[in-house]
Amino acid sequence: MPPWPKPPEGSWTEHYPELGTGPISFDDCVSLEFYELEREAIFKRAWLNVGRVEDLPRTGSYFTKEIAIAGASVILVRGGDGEIRAFHNVCRHRGNKLVWAENPREESAGVCRQFTCKYHGWRYDLEGRLTFVQQEGEFFDLDTEVRGLVPVHCDTWSGFIFVNLEREPRQGLREFLGPMIGGLEGYPFDQMTERYDFVADNNSNWKLFADAFQEYYHVPALHPQQVPIAVRNPEGGFTCAYFACDGPHRVVSTAGARRWTLPPESMYPIERVTRSGLVGPWETPDVGELPAGVNPGGVEPWGISNFQIFPNLEILTYAGWYILYRYWPTSPGTHHFETTLGFHPARTVRERVEHEVASVVFKEFALQDAGMLGGTQAALETGAVDEFPIGDQEVLVRHFHKVVADWVAAYRREALEVVS
Ligand code: FES
Ligand SMILES: [Fe+2]
Repeated sequence: MPPWPKPPEGSWTEHYPELGTGPISFDDCVSLEFYELEREAIFKRAWLNVGRVEDLPRTGSYFTKEIAIAGASVILVRGGDGEIRAFHNVCRHRGNKLVWAENPREESAGVCRQFTCKYHGWRYDLEGRLTFVQQEGEFFDLDTEVRGLVPVHCDTWSGFIFVNLEREPRQGLREFLGPMIGGLEGYPFDQMTERYDFVADNNSNWKLFADAFQEYYHVPALHPQQVPIAVRNPEGGFTCAYFACDGPHRVVSTAGARRWTLPPESMYPIERVTRSGLVGPWETPDVGELPAGVNPGGVEPWGISNFQIFPNLEILTYAGWYILYRYWPTSPGTHHFETTLGFHPARTVRERVEHEVASVVFKEFALQDAGMLGGTQAALETGAVDEFPIGDQEVLVRHFHKVVADWVAAYRREALEVVS
């Protein structure tokens, strides 16, 4: 029996009694004080996905990740032993940012044999050791052994690279991910190396944006094309096939609609012509058997599972391709959004066109969400309404805000214990 069964009867929400059924507040999306707490309680404590192993293909491959919400800049590098390591991007001499290209506030990537500080030329090897100090003899009691780059906890799962900024993480990565996310292991992410990456700076709290990607209740109203009449419920809405929560993580699965059986007005003409679009290429290459965990509710016919990995990573798995979202808070009312579409490398021009069309149509729909959520943020900031009813189709929204509140409360409790 999995730890996330489908309720035999009744609502999804009541299946998780700790969530309650009352209205909820979105003050956590407008309060500056709450935002400051999220830095410490969440982003400096949780495992954070910063990239994929394909981003570091060989010895000396590196990239930097600016994690402004946690006040950190991190270097990810593949060492001579093949290991991926993470370090704070700070020179041990006088604190210059060690790795950057044109602008010290921007991320950079490349391949190198060692890192050389731009300021006084100290050098560090790919394993973070301090290997060269200009005029070393003029320093006092300088022990180069202990002046290597400051390491950051780093681990990988299914090719996803995670870091944890705590001095001693309270859980290892696998334990943190838990059995439901762990069940996705074996999904062929490593075969889907043709990637389309986009970024956007959005005018909404990071959680509001994530909320729009963990419920489909909004879809008939905001993206009517996405749920044509043929796949709506008798009331004209849309009902998801499966929801589950496991620890701080969530999943929603929907049944698959075969696009080619839908009427022409349900899609853009280019989707019909290229046989690709909103739900990706209509035919995807055989990537072998998928792990059962990709469809934990056993939905048949299965379309997509959308895993929300706490706090800010979302992986949407289709049968032959995937999408990834990351939400990086930049202020209470803004966030930096990163998204990646991953396909198996095109073998023909047709396949390449299918991937391009899927990317463009995806962007069109994401813009619909991004544009509208600026309105949600603006209205919440007025403070005119302080509690909001949440339906059963929005159970994951309820869960997400509860988990965030729980982590913040735990941090506050621990901070008080330290003081008293
Ligand atoms: S600050 Fe890096 S070498 Fe001086
Ligand atoms: Fe949407």
